[in-house]
Amino acid sequence: MRKIVLVLLGFSLLVVLGQSNSPFTSQEQQLLQTAGKEFYAALAEQPKDQALCSQYKNHLPSDRLSGFLQEQQSLIKYPAKLMGDWRKGGAIFNDMAKANCFTCHFGSPVNWGGNVGPSLEKYGRRGQSEAIQRYTYAVVYNSWAYFPCTVMYRFGVQGLLTPEEIADVVAYLLDPTSDFNTKPAATGSK
Ligand code: HEC
Repeated sequence: MRKIVLVLLGFSLLVVLGQSNSPFTSQEQQLLQTAGKEFYAALAEQPKDQALCSQYKNHLPSDRLSGFLQEQQSLIKYPAKLMGDWRKGGAIFNDMAKANCFTCHFGSPVNWGGNVGPSLEKYGRRGQSEAIQRYTYAVVYNSWAYFPCTVMYRFGVQGLLTPEEIADVVAYLLDPTSDFNTKPAATGSK
């Protein structure tokens, strides 16, 4: 019975879409007709780690945690130098079409930051030890290595930034002479 209803619904949708006075452009009609399949594929063919996050609604049980974290750590590729050029890193951090870090994090002297993630204001106060550089690099390369299933993009794993670009962003956050640490964080609209 449910199948018949679905078929009837699908059929009437096609009839509606086929009409010339449709509110949708022909390109939109085509998208509507294929979106279902693609949406299904994106959900059904998730990578193993994403599937685990989906299964547990982003809260992994403790017995799955250490294996998950280890696997995420193993995905990280490190460059020769963990800290690159902070000026280049600033351009990446503050570019909405590139890393877009400020949309989720407060602390940029250029853009008023969001609060989806924790504030990174004057991040360089943590110091510049090897351990802090490695931690910062790792979080940006693959946030899931420290925050399983978080919404923060996994910039290295997803191929959004190269290891060198991530090293530039690390320098922007950590270098004591970087604008990020010497200038006040932007507030209010520009
Ligand atoms: C979509 C939102 C989002 C974007 C974009 C984003 N982050 Fe994050 N970030 C988060 C969240 C959320 C957390 C905290 C993780 C958690 O608790 O689940 C976080 C955590 C962090 C941390 C660890 C914070 C700490 O106090 O140790 C650092 C460092 C960081 N992000 C840097 C960056 C940088 C650099 C970029 C851009 C290259 C970036 N983030 C882009 C959401 C985001």
